[in-house]
Amino acid sequence: DFFWIFIAFTSYLAGSIPFGLLVAKLVTDTDIRKVGSGNIGATNVARTLGAKWGILVLVLDALKGLLPVLFIPSLFVATDSSDFDHVRVLSGVATILGHMFPVWLGFRGGKGVATSLGVILVLGPWSTLIAVAAFILTFLISRIVALSSLIAATAFGIAQFVQLGSLAFSSEKWSLAVFSIAVPVLIIVRHWSNLRRIMRGEEKKFQFGNQKQV
Ligand code: G3P
Repeated sequence: DFFWIFIAFTSYLAGSIPFGLLVAKLVTDTDIRKVGSGNIGATNVARTLGAKWGILVLVLDALKGLLPVLFIPSLFVATDSSDFDHVRVLSGVATILGHMFPVWLGFRGGKGVATSLGVILVLGPWSTLIAVAAFILTFLISRIVALSSLIAATAFGIAQFVQLGSLAFSSEKWSLAVFSIAVPVLIIVRHWSNLRRIMRGEEKKFQFGNQKQV
């Protein structure tokens, strides 16, 4: 159906707006891809430009995850339709893929944590609470953002399956079950270099706004 393609396309476009890149460029005329970890996400903006700008990018990237999945599907599909959940999953995944693989940056985008946060707030609010708690706890212990993101993503997936139970295999909820695996897997894949550094004990602890040019 045409509207499925349209929903995926508009969600992808919303996700592909590189707020981290734009904010760093506008504020200090820095190419965020050339400093710190080289990532376009809120963490690297906070690391390079400081807390204030990092929080702004976190909020903008989360909003670009939240708003499409909240509004685009209901423009085309009745909220009580059996397709509604599937369409919301499609919109959410397309948005996250837009952030991770934006056409504007030669498909080299971010790691998807803030954008996924916005999406999962809509598609799995209770599991999001668990994920945020896991993130905060891991960060307080390790001070490593990437490790916190990886634990939070995994916790989200597990919390979703605990909640879904046997519904995960039902015709209404199967797409949500696929989503609950796909999001953590995508996040883990995008953190592969962080993961290797974490394994080697080489991943740096997070500090605000003090990263030298690389
Ligand atoms: O959200 C991305 C974060 O988990 C890691 O970012 O810049 O430390 O690689 P970074």
